[in-house]
Formats: sequence, structure tokens, C-alpha cells
Amino acid sequence: METLKTRTIIAPSILAADFGNLANDIIMLNNSEADWIHCDIMDGLFVPNISFGIPVVQAVRRLTKKPLDVHLMIVDPDRYLEKFRDAGADILTVQYEACTHLNRTVGEIRNLGMKAGVAINPHTPVILLKNILPVVDMVLIMSVNPGFGGQSFITDSYGKIEELRKMVKEGGYDIIIEVDGGVNSENARQLEKSGANALVAGNFVFNSPDPMATIKNLKG
Ligand code: DX5
Ligand code: ZN
Repeated sequence: METLKTRTIIAPSILAADFGNLANDIIMLNNSEADWIHCDIMDGLFVPNISFGIPVVQAVRRLTKKPLDVHLMIVDPDRYLEKFRDAGADILTVQYEACTHLNRTVGEIRNLGMKAGVAINPHTPVILLKNILPVVDMVLIMSVNPGFGGQSFITDSYGKIEELRKMVKEGGYDIIIEVDGGVNSENARQLEKSGANALVAGNFVFNSPDPMATIKNLKG
């Protein structure tokens, strides 16, 4: 029997939004088929860029009811888990490469009432997630080297997603597989086929002539 295909989650990244008119862009997202709002937090240490922090997340929180999918590309994220929860994060994703005690960190994210995500950079093998899968809600596969929007999609990501989907299936876990970086209409369908069920898109959405239509098309 054909299992009901749940529709792909679309999480536009506001890193690519117009920060001079952020409220307008959030209102557009509210009226669009976007499921989540992806907030890329960068500290200039873990990644060679500084983006935005807690005050912006608080402001976005006040403007939308949609889940805030907060991606921490920062060193030592344990320092800020509660602050991002208080700012309004619903999903909080930390980088595998930034966490000495990842099991404790994701446990704390859950204890704070958020969904826990772990992100891996392009160079990090999926197999390293084996022992964390039982305690996370989401895995974020970085399909670019994190730090900037508008980069080219790394095609090795398809294989990583397939490998992860197999691990999730074998373990019987209920885990969302999200992909982040260089996502567009050319790779969205293949990403779904590989096993992704959430897509982050920044430049492809916000630099398009009609972001709402672009989001709708990404959703499929
Ligand atoms: C990259 C960020 C991504 C990025 C995606 O470091 O984590 O979320 O903003 O942007 P695009 O979709 O423009 O590659
Ligand atoms: Zn991101």
C-alpha cells in the first residue's frame, strides 16, 4: 500500500533576508507555505562570519507563530541553550564538530523543551552520528561549508543523506533529516528521493522574483 507521503518541510533561512526590512520578509513567510523559519547564528569563530543573535531571534519570534529552527554555528553552544530557548527557538541545532559532550548538550536542549538537532559539516562522516541518533529529533546535513549563504551545493551530500536514512530506518528512529546549503529547484526532488524531509533554502528563496511561489515550488 502506498504510504501517505508527508510533504517536505521547507525552512527558509533568513540569513538571506533583507535585514533592512526583516519584518516584511517575516510577514511574507507567514503568508507563504514555509513550515519553519531557519535562523543561522554565526559567531565568527566556528565559522568565518558573524550573522545575528538573540535580539533578532526575539524580534522574529514576536512576528511569527511558525516554528523557529535555530542553527547554532558557534563554539561551545552550551553557553546559550537556555537563552535561545527563552528567545523563542523551537528546534535548536548544534554542530557535531563544536560539541565536546554532544550527548549532554542534546539532552539539555530537550530538557529545556526544544527539539534537539545535530548538524554535520561536509567533511564529517555520517557514521559518527551512530550513538547520538537515539537521543536527537533531527539531523542537519550541511551541503555547503557553513558560514555563508549562496554557495554551491556539494553533491556528495546525496550519499550522506542516503546513508543516514538507512541508519535511521535500521534503528527505527523518528528523526527528521534536514539539508542546508545550496538547496534549489534543481536538487530538491533528488534530496527528497535520497531521504531528506526538510529543506533549508536562503538565497534561492529570498533572491527569487517571487519568494512565495519559490517556496511553494520547493514544497513540491
Ligand atoms: C550556511 C547556512 C545556511 C545558508 C543557506 O552556512 O547554514 O543555512 O544560509 O543558504 P543558501 O540556501 O543560500 O545556501
Ligand atoms: Zn543553517
